[in-house]
Amino acid sequence: MPTLPPADCLVFFGASGDLARKMIFPSLQALARRGRLEIPVIGVAKDAWSDAQLVERARESVTEHGGLDEAAFKTLSSRLRYVGGDYGDPSTFAALRAAMGEAKAPMHYLAIPPSLFGMVAGHLSESGCAANARVVIEKPFGHDRATAAALNETIHRFFPESAIFRIDHFLGKEPVQNILYFRFANTIFEPLWNRHFIDHIQITMAESFGVQGRGAFYDQTGCVRDVIQNHLLQIVACLMMEPPHWDDPESVRDQKVALLRSIPPLTASEIARGQFHGYLDEPGVTAGSTVETYAAVRLRVDTWRWDGVPVYIRAGKQLPLTATEVRVQFRRPPAVVFAEAGRPTANFLRLQISPRIEGDLGIRTKKPGVEMVGSDATLSAISHDPDLMQAYERLLGDALRGDSTLFARQDEVDAEWAVVNDVLDDAVPCHPYEPGTWGPPECNSVVMPPEGWRDPAV
Ligand code: BG6
Repeated sequence: MPTLPPADCLVFFGASGDLARKMIFPSLQALARRGRLEIPVIGVAKDAWSDAQLVERARESVTEHGGLDEAAFKTLSSRLRYVGGDYGDPSTFAALRAAMGEAKAPMHYLAIPPSLFGMVAGHLSESGCAANARVVIEKPFGHDRATAAALNETIHRFFPESAIFRIDHFLGKEPVQNILYFRFANTIFEPLWNRHFIDHIQITMAESFGVQGRGAFYDQTGCVRDVIQNHLLQIVACLMMEPPHWDDPESVRDQKVALLRSIPPLTASEIARGQFHGYLDEPGVTAGSTVETYAAVRLRVDTWRWDGVPVYIRAGKQLPLTATEVRVQFRRPPAVVFAEAGRPTANFLRLQISPRIEGDLGIRTKKPGVEMVGSDATLSAISHDPDLMQAYERLLGDALRGDSTLFARQDEVDAEWAVVNDVLDDAVPCHPYEPGTWGPPECNSVVMPPEGWRDPAV
């Protein structure tokens, strides 16, 4: 539900950068294709480009990422303008103000390194570009809890919280929104959704590739900051939060904050870290780096509903496959009728976020024959939508409409940092692992679900 009026101009900083190339132009073309891009779009970067050069870059970008749609691209290119200049130079912002013309509710998307946020926000304010504006900010939001608080303070000098849209692109993913829909649009799960029926929860985010040329960024970040502090804790929040009122963005975010705050800060006995062999040879990685490319954590959620239900999360690069999956393991039935009924291979709910959107309920059924013995079966739901809205398109569209429901609020980000803050960096040793394996064996002796990790089905 929008809480701001629709934006009447989109300005994006970092127009010549990687994020614009991979995500922003393709999303803008998709919005244009759906008839949802009716406003001027101004790209800003330091290169001395013309409008035509920006259009050329946009064409290359969409061709490479998702494909060129001539009609939609024509609409997009007719909206594109370019403003070039240094982000530290007030004249860049004077030129931007002129290019924005009559805009009364601009949206500024800062697709730039966080170290530049303060300076750009300050210039936007001084030049009059920030009046009645909203700002979209990319992760990472801070480097730890203290720097995130400092960054908030800086941005709040120029923009109120209601005008700040912090992107966590996992929230724009259909299957992540579906976790909430699935939970709260069906009555069958609610009676089971608690400590009386659920034994534990596992979440795996596996990537079969490495740092893909982002060594310099990754070496400042590591797996915990890159995906656990944000994407995977958001999944935990969606899985475990109390019911919100969907029509009220603050109610959704209040419930997430309440859940995140009920997770005690991780301690050294609840995290294990690994680094794949070959990481140190990646360009941009510092010699002898102990940054983790794999991490596993065990969370507690101290609420009436969840007391005693551990949440196991593992994430890593150079693992055997690429998939993100949630597995909710229900408690074993008493083995008094059928001794083998409580096998851990069944009695679960599996939700795959990617690469496929699917869910199964793993159950035991009787194997035909005279013996009362069982076999595993699944009740599956699979979604195939060729026209699925991608996360960035969804989030850009929502921010333009003024709907902040799927964006992280300041206290939400703070609560996420509070969970991982004490175990960042070298709080525990980082063990090596071979590419193509499920992380270092040492990690399994620290963090391991009862009866082991279940690998995603791909
Ligand atoms: C990004 C991380 O936020 O998410 C990357 O920086 C990671 O390291 C990516 O690969 C995964 O996103 P997705 O949507 O491809 O699963």
